[in-house]
Amino acid sequence: MKLIICGKGGSGKSTITSLLSRQYAREGKRVIVVDTDVSNVGLHRIMGLESPPDLIGYFGGKEKMGEFMRESRRGGTPQDVPALGTWTYDTIPKEYRSELDGVQLVSVGKINEATEGCKCSISALARQFILGLTPKKDERVIIDTEAGIEHFGRGFDSLCNAIIMVVDSSYESQCLVRKISDMADTVAVPLYFILNKTDEATSATLRDVIPDKSRIIGEFGLDPALIEAGLMGQALPGSYPEAAEVVQRLAERGGESSPA
Ligand SMILES: Nc1ncnc2c1ncn2[C@@H]1O[C@H](COP(=O)(O)OP(=O)(O)O)[C@@H](O)[C@H]1O
Ligand SMILES: [Mg+2]
Repeated sequence: MKLIICGKGGSGKSTITSLLSRQYAREGKRVIVVDTDVSNVGLHRIMGLESPPDLIGYFGGKEKMGEFMRESRRGGTPQDVPALGTWTYDTIPKEYRSELDGVQLVSVGKINEATEGCKCSISALARQFILGLTPKKDERVIIDTEAGIEHFGRGFDSLCNAIIMVVDSSYESQCLVRKISDMADTVAVPLYFILNKTDEATSATLRDVIPDKSRIIGEFGLDPALIEAGLMGQALPGSYPEAAEVVQRLAERGGESSPA
């Protein structure tokens, strides 16, 4: 099963990715977290992991990857063929993954220099890698994205079994609910919502903008422990019953079994 986590910047995508990965691991699953955010570098920290080297290095770097993608387009390789091979928890190159307690983190690539050009080749690799991931029955893939909706255009979402949008207490998030709902419909992948950083008043407002309430699979209140961890760049604290609820609801509502 492949899950993609999306939402506006700062809504809590990386936090939720981390909490869900831990929960799946607690339930005996082996989890592959794929970091597709080219800018933010903190996911490993909140997961309590070492930072893995950029996966694009394994394929020779940005330029080589760009050439490879141009070549496969020229050669007419079909979109649904994993041109770079297939991967499971055990076969992801060891030097390019960081691992703790049944959770692996793979980071596709980061922008490191002011003048290094666009991120197209990193996104192309991210799509190829997501396409090539073939999780076994006891494996779960969680894809953390960067802010916004570009991942739809890059073709990540259509390769996943379910999309989870993190909705925080902001007007921007409320606007994004509509946009992402439309896009999820277009790619025909089930969309679920997690409300984040809520209190009683904001929770009610956010629930109002989500037309199908049964699609809300969890809610995390504004949590001082998460604020503290975020501020200090520390691993997330403790275990969250809210995460267990999300995993259970997702399973009940078919998010795990719908076709990729
Ligand atoms: N439920 C929550 N309560 C309090 N702070 C939170 C909560 N969820 C996330 N945060 C904080 O919000 C900030 C942004 O979270 P992050 O997961 O990095 O967002 P994103 O990946 O969407 O940009 C971090 O400082 C994080 O600690
Ligand atoms: Mg993030």
